[in-house]
Amino acid sequence: MSTATAIASPNIAFIKYWGDQDPCLRIPANSSLSMNLAGLITRTQVTFDSHPSEDALTVNGEGITGVSLVRVSDFLDRVRQLAGFDYTAVVDSTNNFPTGAGIASSASAFAALSLAASAAAGLNLSQPELSRLARTGSGSACRSVPGGFVEWQAGSHDEDSYAFSFAHPAHWDLVDCIVIISQLHKLVGSTSGHALALSSPIQTARVLDAPRRLEICRRAILEKDFQTFADIIELDSNLMHAIMITSTPPLLYWQPTTLAVMRVVQDWRQAGLPVAYTIDAGPNIHVLTSSVYAPEVVARLVQLENVLQVLTASPGGPAWLEA
Ligand code: DP6
Repeated sequence: MSTATAIASPNIAFIKYWGDQDPCLRIPANSSLSMNLAGLITRTQVTFDSHPSEDALTVNGEGITGVSLVRVSDFLDRVRQLAGFDYTAVVDSTNNFPTGAGIASSASAFAALSLAASAAAGLNLSQPELSRLARTGSGSACRSVPGGFVEWQAGSHDEDSYAFSFAHPAHWDLVDCIVIISQLHKLVGSTSGHALALSSPIQTARVLDAPRRLEICRRAILEKDFQTFADIIELDSNLMHAIMITSTPPLLYWQPTTLAVMRVVQDWRQAGLPVAYTIDAGPNIHVLTSSVYAPEVVARLVQLENVLQVLTASPGGPAWLEA
């Protein structure tokens, strides 16, 4: 019997992953950029044992069966194959952030699971190898393996599709103000959404222009140029949602409050406040600002109608193994 525990944070993408070249290996259609979210964590313990006949999974103390367990078991098969054994696993995972808060927990979940499972299996994987492994569980999880500001190079094969850090967490004091407007589970998950991307007639144009947007965003982060950063992350988020609403069938994740926050963020920025939004596959909205303005931005956001809660996170570190 061998056991290991790992911790990872979710990440917010500034240049989004939407659509795959290879859905099985989760090789994305385009490279993406993100920031890890400090303070929000998934802690996962994996124990490999020859005794139980099937893998077992608990999330926040609740036993999980069905498709979620199958996804984790399929992922563990990759680890077992790498390790050359067929022991079953007991996986126990907890999030310190509210479940159903619209924060993509699959990224931190599969990053922590990759690290814990590979360590428990006695594999000593390099960071790119770990990132590749995490990618096969959930694409965006590969970006939660390295720390700070991260690029996932799309590549075209399993070997060259992984994420790496291009700036340390302390590089830029950005704060992500996560505006929760709905705690309902999203109707269409990311995996199904990626599969619809190419049914939009404008996905090809979005993907073709992605290297240009990524370069502008990377430079804006490296130069701490908030105005350029704001313009490019809003453009990229809007482009992804344009794909979603023009897919067949269409996916419309926004709620009226999502749009209200988008408008107010643009108004505040025009009035001189450094704020910018980005939205993932759900109605909640991430409002980026710098640390000196964060208290004021949060105070303004919580006063808006239908805003349930605002969480904040600064740039976070890499996934790590608990001693
Ligand atoms: C909108 O990584 O959640 O958050 O690989 O199917 O688990 P799966 O997809 P996932 O997709 C993330 C989509 C996104 C944009 C992003 O994080 O880049």
